[in-house]
Amino acid sequence: MYINTKHLGVALLAPSLVAANSMKTLLSKRDASTYEQNAVCTADQLLRSYGTVNTGLFGQDLWWQSGNFISALATFFQLDPDYGSIHNNIFATTLSEAPGYGNYANFLNNWYDDEGWWGNAFLDVYDYTSDSAYLNQAITIYNDIVGGLGTPCGGIWWDKDHTYVAAISNGLYTELAAGLANRAGGGSYLANAEANWNWFFSSGIVGSDHMVRDGLNSDSSCSLNGNVFTYNQGVILGAAAELYKATGNQTYLTTAAALADASTASGSDVTSSSGILTEGCDKSANCDTTAEMFKGAYIRGLRKLQLVDPESNWLNYITANAQSLWNNDLSVQNVNGNSECIVGSAWAGPFNSNQANAVTQGAALDALNAALAATQPKASLRKSPAWYYRLVQITTEEDRDIEASDFDEDISELAVCDTSSREEKSCECDEDEGDSSDEDTEDSDENDEDDEDNEDSDVEDSYDPEDAVSERSYDGSDAGYYYELKEDREQRKRDLLKIRERAKK
Ligand SMILES: *[C@@H]1O[C@H](CO)[C@@H](O)[C@H](O)[C@H]1NC(C)=O
Repeated sequence: MYINTKHLGVALLAPSLVAANSMKTLLSKRDASTYEQNAVCTADQLLRSYGTVNTGLFGQDLWWQSGNFISALATFFQLDPDYGSIHNNIFATTLSEAPGYGNYANFLNNWYDDEGWWGNAFLDVYDYTSDSAYLNQAITIYNDIVGGLGTPCGGIWWDKDHTYVAAISNGLYTELAAGLANRAGGGSYLANAEANWNWFFSSGIVGSDHMVRDGLNSDSSCSLNGNVFTYNQGVILGAAAELYKATGNQTYLTTAAALADASTASGSDVTSSSGILTEGCDKSANCDTTAEMFKGAYIRGLRKLQLVDPESNWLNYITANAQSLWNNDLSVQNVNGNSECIVGSAWAGPFNSNQANAVTQGAALDALNAALAATQPKASLRKSPAWYYRLVQITTEEDRDIEASDFDEDISELAVCDTSSREEKSCECDEDEGDSSDEDTEDSDENDEDDEDNEDSDVEDSYDPEDAVSERSYDGSDAGYYYELKEDREQRKRDLLKIRERAKK
């Protein structure tokens, strides 16, 4: 029987195990690599600020940041549906109540980046709920943002007063347009996404060092505002992932990889010498509730890229950051018998209580989501066939492309149907054969239970892994890669059949 111990993960921090004066013991026991239970404790704390001051929002006057939190929670709920099922009533409340703040009907206000955060967040909620109300809300927002096109520098405006051309508004617009192309289809979503992507990379906003600058002053020369912030760099990575899914065009991945490599490099403008994502203001511990959100958006984009184009150095970066914030930037407090995991702004530490609030909590959840999604293909690929899961592990762990012979281990169909085969043994068709030898040694006990869950649930229930490539019934975030491998696998089968037939003659 599958026993859900996910939430027992929190037992590490549960009141019954924690004597009043045992905080030291508790802190020494915390495990920075149990991303799922760490995310539960982080999300719990984030949710404590939900609806406390502004209905449908988190904390006080955190309008667009609340869109980011909704995105992070919807993503986490997808990764941990059991946790999500307890809390998912927040989405309907936010959809109906949040616009009351500032009278922002339909989540529209004076800033196209604010609108972009919400539009993309509602795509995440749609992915989690499959409820078209959220997709329609994203479309409404998108239609308003399109009205911001036509600046003298190209791209869309930052604001409806037309004062500035911001990288962030354009990154979010590109991601939203491509995201809608993947979910709603039709219209001019894809054409607009491609056009704005091409403008973005020719506008001067992206330097030859592959770092994204803040934007263009809409003066006669469209002069560059050269400031570097993490979120500008990250959001365009998410746009690349969506564009790649929509088109299968590798150019988006290649371009995004250069941006990811440049920014994840130790000592880059946004990464410390020890490899930890750092906002400029983190160095002086004076981030405000705007800048405190940025790193969350960065690592969210890196997660999206990692899921369609896995690279071991990005995986290491993501996990190093998730572990660093847990080891160096966490305060665990026992309040009324509840353990509260409070994460600060500077993921390299030290924890600073003046830089710890709903926003730093939301950004931390993004980092934990990224680590969870990137290390647990099983969580996001729960319904994928075993052969695909095995190949994803090879790409991630060995950091290399899949070769034709990699498919052979779990291609058994050839033997099954071949009654004339001399090799009776090969007719056993042991589907799980390929799964056992390469188990991730870093998996915790908890993950092992996910394994069982994975094996119990039949792949074919959700989508037919043998369906025609053209049907594409699977639309997870890694669908592009899945269908690419599937096609190669079919080709390998055909090749093997030919070889066998030749051998018979
Ligand atoms: C791939 O995308 C890039 C960037 O938009 C574009 O220049 C190129 O023509 C595309 N390639 C194909 C084969 O469509």
